[in-house]
Amino acid sequence: MNYFIGIDSSTTATKALLLAESGEVVGVASSTYDYETPKPLWSEQRPELWWTATVDSIQQLLAETAVSPQAIKGIGLTGQMHGLVLLDKDGEVLRPALLWNDQRTGAECDEMRAVIGKAKLIDITGNDALTGFTAPKILWVKNNEPEIYGRIAHILLPKDYVRYKLTGEMAMDKAGGAGTQLFDVRQRDWSQELVTKLGIDPAWLPKTFEGTAVTGQLTQAAAEVTGLPVGIPVVGGGGDQAANAVGTGAVVDGVVALSLGTSGVVFASSDVPIVEPDGRLHAFCHAAPGKWHLMGVMLSAAGSLRWYRDALAPGVDFGDLLIPAADVPAGSEGLLFLPYLTGERTPHPDPLARGGFIGLTVRHSQAHLTRAVLEGVAFGLRDSLELMRGAGLADITQIRASGGGLRSLLWRQILADVLQAEIVTVNTTEGAAYGAAVLALVGAGGFDSVESACASLVKVTGRTEPGMDTAVYNQLYPIYQQLYPALKSSFAALAQ
Ligand code: XUL
Repeated sequence: MNYFIGIDSSTTATKALLLAESGEVVGVASSTYDYETPKPLWSEQRPELWWTATVDSIQQLLAETAVSPQAIKGIGLTGQMHGLVLLDKDGEVLRPALLWNDQRTGAECDEMRAVIGKAKLIDITGNDALTGFTAPKILWVKNNEPEIYGRIAHILLPKDYVRYKLTGEMAMDKAGGAGTQLFDVRQRDWSQELVTKLGIDPAWLPKTFEGTAVTGQLTQAAAEVTGLPVGIPVVGGGGDQAANAVGTGAVVDGVVALSLGTSGVVFASSDVPIVEPDGRLHAFCHAAPGKWHLMGVMLSAAGSLRWYRDALAPGVDFGDLLIPAADVPAGSEGLLFLPYLTGERTPHPDPLARGGFIGLTVRHSQAHLTRAVLEGVAFGLRDSLELMRGAGLADITQIRASGGGLRSLLWRQILADVLQAEIVTVNTTEGAAYGAAVLALVGAGGFDSVESACASLVKVTGRTEPGMDTAVYNQLYPIYQQLYPALKSSFAALAQ
């Protein structure tokens, strides 16, 4: 039997997963770390942490499973997207990486719109400038740290720094490349026009590869520290959301992946590049070769429920908190919750947006508030789905859900009712690391395509159909939609 490793370098941990070619997950190991917030809005991490945690988790994986390292035939990489890793001419790290959740680049996003033109930026990259993306971070370093900027020789993403340490090669996957906002998303490669106009040296940018293509082989040095044999091929892999979509089978038109963790992501695969005209949805290349995807990102999804529990019912188990909410009628008797607790990305790219309960009366109990939180998150996710439907993905009938929030049957039912689609759960629950291992398996010829691998490996384990409450939610949704525009200027004033 052959085996494959998926490595996920996330914001808080690196996870290594061992996949048998039969599709079975043989082992999972992880190693945690923190990120720094040296100033308000800043979010940084030292690249060395990802490498140390990669070595540690591979060593754990080999120690905990009885699989011979010689039977491991490929490695797939995934991880947090958009992070800016800067290396000098000797491949040494120049400064801590600026992460996806760093918000310092508002002025640089304006600079990009001024230099390129907003409409053209959306047309080429698929996206409006966003503080989280990589390109404005490069401009920030130019504007604020010219000494470091002058020494840049290579630009990588977090996962690609791990690739560099494993293989010695500077390379990037197409999904990650699109997330830098320096890609011509239709051409699936660097946009010469954008790179030139932003004054970025093309020599800094690595060659880009499809998710299943081999980008290099494990070096002697990496083999020695990890315990793996020299020469194992490392495939392109993909950004965490694209790899998670591979892991849940969202690789064909019409199948949407919903991940309900701290953030909430609605992800739709597409055979053709689709761009939402105002750039409110992220339009990136998929990790499945030759495919694209649209994605809406809500910053506080299950994170809203966690905040609510910690603030108003500290110490209460989530299961116990949710039981009384099932007896509250749909719509929480006129109470709406806005989930913008850490600002928002989709559909309102506004770091100053705030959360709120709107419509409180003396009738409302804790159970109403709980239910309103679940419903508010569902309405916010519907915003992304409506943008997708508006952009041409009309036939969204099934949503493949993953993440801790989906353990609640009540929340699954609310989501099915609000989103008006069947919510299904699948057997592959290990997320992005699983998807990355599947990309390595396909790259080694285990399947002839990512689609056929998913069809064979990913099985539906549960279904929740839209029910009678759909009508109530259809009445409430337009009211929910009116709230952010009505409160936007108040949020900005409060943030002062
Ligand atoms: C995607 C995004 C996050 C990060 C961190 O656009 O910003 O998914 O990759 O997980």
